[in-house]
Amino acid sequence: MKGVQAQLCNAQKIKQELIEINCIDQKYKPLKEGSYIIFPIQFVPEGYSVVEKEFEAKTNTPILSNLLNIPEPLLKKLPSSQERVGSIMILEIPEELEPYETNIANAHLKINKDITTIVKKTDVHHGVFRTRGVKILAGINTKCSIHKESSVRLKIHLEQTYFSARLSNERLRVAKSVKSTENVLVMFSGAAPYPLVIWKHAKPQSITGIEINPKAHELAVENLRLNKCDDIQLYNGDVRSVLPSLKKFDRIIMPLPKTSEEFLPLALQHCKQGTVINLYTFLHVDGFENEKKRLSLICERAGHTIMFSNMVPCGQHAPYIYRVCYDIIVQ
Ligand SMILES: C[S@@+](CC[C@H](N)C(=O)[O-])C[C@H]1O[C@@H](n2cnc3c(N)ncnc32)[C@H](O)[C@@H]1O
Repeated sequence: MKGVQAQLCNAQKIKQELIEINCIDQKYKPLKEGSYIIFPIQFVPEGYSVVEKEFEAKTNTPILSNLLNIPEPLLKKLPSSQERVGSIMILEIPEELEPYETNIANAHLKINKDITTIVKKTDVHHGVFRTRGVKILAGINTKCSIHKESSVRLKIHLEQTYFSARLSNERLRVAKSVKSTENVLVMFSGAAPYPLVIWKHAKPQSITGIEINPKAHELAVENLRLNKCDDIQLYNGDVRSVLPSLKKFDRIIMPLPKTSEEFLPLALQHCKQGTVINLYTFLHVDGFENEKKRLSLICERAGHTIMFSNMVPCGQHAPYIYRVCYDIIVQ
């Protein structure tokens, strides 16, 4: 089983960070080894030291495998990590385990006291809105929940908007790099996780979000209310038609990994000298360096020279394929 290793002097801070992203597996006890403490985890978070260890189960907490009626050889097909959005747990059920999905869902419901609904993914994110389907397997009949992340609350409907709880560390990383003097644009803002985390942690001059999906935009507007925030400007529309009437920005965040670079020439028209662009893309592990040349060329053709200040892999999308953020400075 995997765990995050922390030095004792740092353990409280790391534990708090892991709790914020619902990463600690509360069914097991943390392990103390010398000057380290190791927290049992449900998924591998970005940017932490992860080790393989045996953890002792907390007494009175049933172990998942004890509640399952699945033939032994199929047990190893169970996914080792599940995503949580608020009180909903999202499972990825492999085809061989489909006949046992209700049993699996009920077992998860029983051992995770903070979870009230279990769903499974029915397809992958697709289309312009990057949404996906889910099917309710157990618990309360809802696809909507309030998710807490980095001290903001987000109402998320699993089928109406794109949202990944696993990107919370990355959002916080970007938010912490925003200066109070910046005017920030979040292209493709979805239910507003980037605008709100930036608002909470950076308090910049202004934050603007543009989102094409009307349902995601509606959730974003509701999320501003939920956080008592009235100083983020949100637009519902295509960035191609909304952005031309807006000013220039000090930072443009482009979280649309499949096609972000198509929007780079438009983004550059709204950049000043020194504007930072945080651009997300999916890349094969061998292609990280080449991508810099490709992005530089796109910008050069649009009449701009750029510099790269950082390149951050922030999650695995498929075997060997990573979500990578390029932090770009426009010259
Ligand atoms: C990968 S999601 C990211 C959403 C959000 N930023 C987040 O991190 O949860 C990309 C979003 O871009 C939106 N989108 C796609 N094309 C767009 C366009 N041309 N103009 C505005 N939004 C667009 C989609 O509807 C989707 O919500």
